[in-house]
Amino acid sequence: MNLFEHIDKKRDAHLAELSEFLRIPSVSAKSEHKPDIQRAAEWVAGKLRSAGMKTVEIVPTEMHPLVYAESLEAPGKPTILFYGHYDVQPPEPLELWTSPAFEPTVRNGNLYGRGTADDKGQVHIHLKALESLRETSGKLPINVKVMIEGEEEVGSVNLWKFVQQNKQRLKADALVVSDTSMLAPGVPSITYGLRGLNYYEVEISGPAQDLHSGVFGGAVPNPLTILCGLFAKMHDKNFRVTVPGFYDDAAKLLGSERKALNSLPWKEKEFRKTVGAPALDGEKGFTIIERLWTRPTLELNGVWGGYTGEGAKTVIPAKAHAKFSTRLVPNQDPDKIAKLVEKHIRQLLPDSVKCKFEVLSKGKPWVAPYTHRIFKTAIESLEKGFGKKAVFIREGGSIPFVTQMHDTFKVPCVLLGFGLPDENAHAPDEHIALENYFGGIKAIAHFYQSLVEL
Ligand code: BES
Ligand code: MN
Ligand code: MN
Repeated sequence: MNLFEHIDKKRDAHLAELSEFLRIPSVSAKSEHKPDIQRAAEWVAGKLRSAGMKTVEIVPTEMHPLVYAESLEAPGKPTILFYGHYDVQPPEPLELWTSPAFEPTVRNGNLYGRGTADDKGQVHIHLKALESLRETSGKLPINVKVMIEGEEEVGSVNLWKFVQQNKQRLKADALVVSDTSMLAPGVPSITYGLRGLNYYEVEISGPAQDLHSGVFGGAVPNPLTILCGLFAKMHDKNFRVTVPGFYDDAAKLLGSERKALNSLPWKEKEFRKTVGAPALDGEKGFTIIERLWTRPTLELNGVWGGYTGEGAKTVIPAKAHAKFSTRLVPNQDPDKIAKLVEKHIRQLLPDSVKCKFEVLSKGKPWVAPYTHRIFKTAIESLEKGFGKKAVFIREGGSIPFVTQMHDTFKVPCVLLGFGLPDENAHAPDEHIALENYFGGIKAIAHFYQSLVEL
């Protein structure tokens, strides 16, 4: 039977199996899910074994285990390293899910559940592609190394240590990742650029303890008000980040790339609909695509402090907190940006408060040429799986690991994403379009098969 018929025949089985994977709440950020993380790692290891991988290991780390597998039975043929993650973001706020986050449900041609698009669904695409190849031809046509980690959503700290200690073993002709998105429905996409990410937390403290806002208000600093004032000053009226030097190293787009990106089949109207805000906002002088993919940003991600419960409580909080992040583009250095951001914040704050400034994680941007012939194979494979020509895109999200791998191994990194920008990754009602999941299995199976002739 040919490969695609085989995949079609097993649609229901694949979907049932993916649902099993999705039911494991492998939330990496919360220690209460430690046993679920372990279960997810074991689940992945089991499926790698049944897909025909010869050695499969669950590698314990200081935090969450990673799964590493190899099938090196095609001497003289290329070797690829596939990377993905089995951990997911926390599902909260739970009440906003139409069907529960860890009870996968099909509605309107989509599979709903935490991890469907980011990244369990996409990892499963590769597991089933490998399995289909083995079932139809007896063994894998190329050499495959697979690394699926459990800490991607919390910064991949231990993954990087593993890579450093296993450089020889991880050698491959290319890195393949499916943890990104397609430009739009029916537009298979290859991502050649990602933004970097620095993540920060600040604590502003004023009074030694919470104070009655009637007894003290008007004569003391309010950390929460000061925090709001601080972040109000982080952008100017043109939506540019006010941190001095922030844009100094940001690479300018070449005219040819600007033209290519702005002529992609991308619809502003669809984007506005997905966002759902009364209007858009953004840095003056750049198109939306340029703002999203090629410009650095500073975003406030969470603010807390004071009283937020039912009714009123007249209090001046002793402390105020914020989590925020900067997305980075080529030539910006994460260390340098972190220093500039801290300096700016300290300069803006009045002497009446103290500030604790922490950098929780740092990650470099990634943009790479796509001239290697593996990209031609990727385009052909996506066309086989989706019946449409693929486009080359950049994206605004971050996978710091891709940069690290590219810097270390200097091999092509092929990012084939099967999510969609409106599939609610990290949010309630996350989903994946079934046609992209099944199209993905076909495209990836064809891709691995075609790499024999790389
Ligand atoms: N899969 C995403 C990254 C992504 C999303 C890339 C969309 C391109 C398009 C990944 O799981 C993720 O969420 N990354 C985080 C950073 C990470 C260090 C926690 C992000 O981009 O915020
Ligand atoms: Mn992801
Ligand atoms: Mn994610």
